[in-house]
Amino acid sequence: METSFDLKSLRERVRGWKSEGLTIGLVPTMGNLHAGHISLLERARAMADRTVASIFVNPIQFGKGEDYERYPSTLAEDQEKLGAAGLDLLFAPDLAELYPGGIEEDTRITVPQLSDILCGEFRPGHFSGVATVVAKLLINVQPDYALFGEKDFQQLLVIRRMAHDLLIPGEIIGMPIVREPDGLAMSSRNSYLDASQRVTAAVIYRTLSTAAQRVAAGDAPFATIEGEATEALSAAGMRPEYFSVRRRADLAVPGADDRELVILTAAWLGGARLIDNIQVERGAAPAA
Ligand code: PAJ
Repeated sequence: METSFDLKSLRERVRGWKSEGLTIGLVPTMGNLHAGHISLLERARAMADRTVASIFVNPIQFGKGEDYERYPSTLAEDQEKLGAAGLDLLFAPDLAELYPGGIEEDTRITVPQLSDILCGEFRPGHFSGVATVVAKLLINVQPDYALFGEKDFQQLLVIRRMAHDLLIPGEIIGMPIVREPDGLAMSSRNSYLDASQRVTAAVIYRTLSTAAQRVAAGDAPFATIEGEATEALSAAGMRPEYFSVRRRADLAVPGADDRELVILTAAWLGGARLIDNIQVERGAAPAA
C-alpha cells in the first residue's frame, strides 16, 4: 500500500489507473479505523479494480467546543489495518493541502433543508463542512464508487444530494452499520467512554430496536414511541438530543402513507456524543 500526502501524487496515481481503464472505489474517513471502516473498504475492493481511502480530520465540520482537538489520531495503526485489508492508496493530506487559503474564507457547499434538521439542528454548519470536504475528495479522485456508512445516515443523504446536485459522476454507495456484540454501533468516539459508560451505551441500540418493533407493529402514535424512547435514554443516564421516526428517503416527518422509515437518535453519554439509527417498515409486523 502506498500513502500519498499531497494532491499532486494522488492525481498522478488516479490518472494512471484511469488511463489503463481501471475502476476506482473511494472510502473517505477521519481515521482511528475500526471494523465499520474496514467493511467499506472490503466492499470497495469487491466493486472496483483499485481502492483509495482518505484520512483527514476535517476541521470545518466540527463546531466550536466540539472534539476537533482531541479527535483520536492513529495514523501508523490505521496504515497497518488498511494495508492488511488490501488498500491500494491512502491519501492523508494535511490542512494546507485541502484548504490552501485557510478555513475561514474557504468556499462552502451547503445542501439546503436536509442539513438543518436532526443533527444539523444541534451542529450548525456541520453538514456544510462534510459536503465541502467530500466534494473536494470526489473531484480529485473521481471514483466510480464512493462508499459511506449508514451509521451516519443523515450524512449519507446529504452527500448523495450534494453529488447529485453538483453533477459529480460516480455512484454513492451506502453500507450497513457494523455493531459491537452488544449492539453498540462502532464509532471512533466510543473511545471517549469509560468502562461503565461503555456498558450503558448499549441501551441506545436496545431502545432503537424496541421502537422499531413498535413502529412495525403500529402499536402507538410515533410521538408516544419517541417520547418513551427519549425517557428510556434519560433514565439510563444519557442526555438525548433527539429520537425521531422519519421517512427514509428524505428524513421528512412521515405522512400516513409512508412505509419505508428510519428511526434516528443522538445522545450524549459523558463526553461522547453518540448517534445511531435503525431502518423499519411501518406495519411490517402484526400488532402484539
Ligand atoms: P468517519 O467518522 O471516520 O467515518 C468514515 C466512514 O465510515 C463514514 O462513511 C461512516 O458512516 C462510516 N462508518 C463509521 N462507523 C461505521 C459503522 N459502525 N458501520 C459502518 N460504517 C461506519 O464520517 C466521517 O468520518 C466524515 O464525516 C467524512 C465523511 C470522512 C467527511 O469528513
